Amino acid sequence: NNIAVVIPAAGSGRRMQSTIPKQYLTIKNKTVLEHTVQLLADIEQVTKIILVVSAQDSYIAQYQHHFPEKVTIVTGGQERVNSVLAGLHALNANEHNWVMVHDAARPCVLKSDILKLIDTCIGNQEGGILATPVRDTMKREQPQNDTLIPVVGKTEDRSGLWHALTPQMFMTNQLITAIEHGLLENKLITDEASAIELLQLPVRLIEADESNIKITRKSDLALAEFFLNRAI
Ligand code: C5P
Repeated sequence: NNIAVVIPAAGSGRRMQSTIPKQYLTIKNKTVLEHTVQLLADIEQVTKIILVVSAQDSYIAQYQHHFPEKVTIVTGGQERVNSVLAGLHALNANEHNWVMVHDAARPCVLKSDILKLIDTCIGNQEGGILATPVRDTMKREQPQNDTLIPVVGKTEDRSGLWHALTPQMFMTNQLITAIEHGLLENKLITDEASAIELLQLPVRLIEADESNIKITRKSDLALAEFFLNRAI
């Protein structure tokens, strides 16, 4: 199988309170981005990696020479979905009929979970995503209230609720069609699966290890280092 990977890495990481975008922060002597690229490049079935960076990215130039040969760099867009679509358009869907989209900010995903995702999707000829079951009780806040502190509107039934992680794997042509359709209809697309769902196509949930965190805040760096130090 020739599987392609699109890595959206064109975010500014506003929540990190750092001048350096989060994908360029260092863990164990390597940037978050280098960890993520290496991890995916090490998977044998992955024969192409499209790395999507911002047009304003002033860091990529110092790293791109060290990336494996299968990595191609393209320019992203305003929102994550625009960056992903730019990455997908850089692919030849005949050559790579399956694609995994994986956030640059998730360097701790286990290789065994990625292999499980690949096996499930190809085995069933259906798309799928890594996910973890929700463990806390989930509250929805009251939509309109004038107080400074939000007020609980209701408790959601958490049974059957999952956190959507990445990688998310789909047939390349199907994903392009789904995202273009969603954008045309002005739908909110925060991950690849949400675009596929709009076409009422199935998305399998593949339970992943909890270590697959998205580096978002400063404190996540120490946690990511802990996970990367595990010998699995
Ligand atoms: O901001 P958030 O954590 O949701 O971003 C998830 C991933 O999407 C990150 O790897 C980020 O770099 C990427 N992204 C992007 N283009 C954007 C916004 C985010 O590639 N316009």
